[in-house]
Amino acid sequence: MDPVTPSLEVARLAFAYPDGHQALFGVDFTVARGERVALLGPNGAGKTTLVLHLNGILTGGTGTVKVAGLPVGKKHMTEIRRRVGIVFQDPDDQLFMPTVREDVAFGPATAGLKGAELEARVDRALEQVGMADFKDRPPHHLSFGQRRRVAVATVLAMEPEILVLDEPSSNLDPASRRELADILRSLDVTVLMVTHDLPYALELCPRSLILSEGVITADGKTGQLLADDTLMRAHRLELPYGFDPRSVPSAVDRSR
Ligand SMILES: Nc1ncnc2c1ncn2[C@@H]1O[C@H](COP(=O)(O)OP(=O)(O)O)[C@@H](O)[C@H]1O
Ligand SMILES: [Mg+2]
Repeated sequence: MDPVTPSLEVARLAFAYPDGHQALFGVDFTVARGERVALLGPNGAGKTTLVLHLNGILTGGTGTVKVAGLPVGKKHMTEIRRRVGIVFQDPDDQLFMPTVREDVAFGPATAGLKGAELEARVDRALEQVGMADFKDRPPHHLSFGQRRRVAVATVLAMEPEILVLDEPSSNLDPASRRELADILRSLDVTVLMVTHDLPYALELCPRSLILSEGVITADGKTGQLLADDTLMRAHRLELPYGFDPRSVPSAVDRSR
């Protein structure tokens, strides 16, 4: 059998902001198709900067990013934006149409889908996040947790190669946090999830990366990284009070 091209390959990626502040110092990692990987690291580590490179929102640094073998760059930008679905931290940055349906249809319609095919795409994406009953509602009348699910649907409607989430559990109440976890676990898509919520990483992602001061300083099984007190302390990663990663079953790796 042919080896499958990885969903994401990041090689020697370095980047300085226009004010001269260098945020990434040579980032290297690969995410295989179907993997769910958590990206951990303290504030200011460069996580968002890295995410913004995955679909070419930020460019101009050195190194390469490839999505399913396709290099991120001007030449393939439309295709890259379709393949990399980014769910931003604030759903209100992503939802701007009068109804849920129009928000979810926006991307695929822009990509040329029409009629029954477009409706089917919208329905499927909304079903995947359990929001089919909210199709004709205005997004701004939904709860925060529901808006985040619709934001995930807007991205799933593009049938992305990789789903990238920046702090998916932030600002969610415990029930919404649980519902989103169930949804993410049910999806058959490669996931890269930036999070400060370490139990969420353990529950959802068999593998984690630690980004610290602009480089990947650890890459391994989430349970093993979280149980390494020295590593955790060195990167200002704190488990919730009383949480013992050794006593929790780790996420199951479906990619191998
Ligand atoms: N627009 C910007 N201009 C200059 N520096 C920035 C900008 N955005 C972020 N930074 C700096 O880059 C570093 C990485 O930031 P960021 O990627 O947001 O980290 P994280 O998401 O891990 O908290 C930080 O030191 C931050 O202050
Ligand atoms: Mg950030």
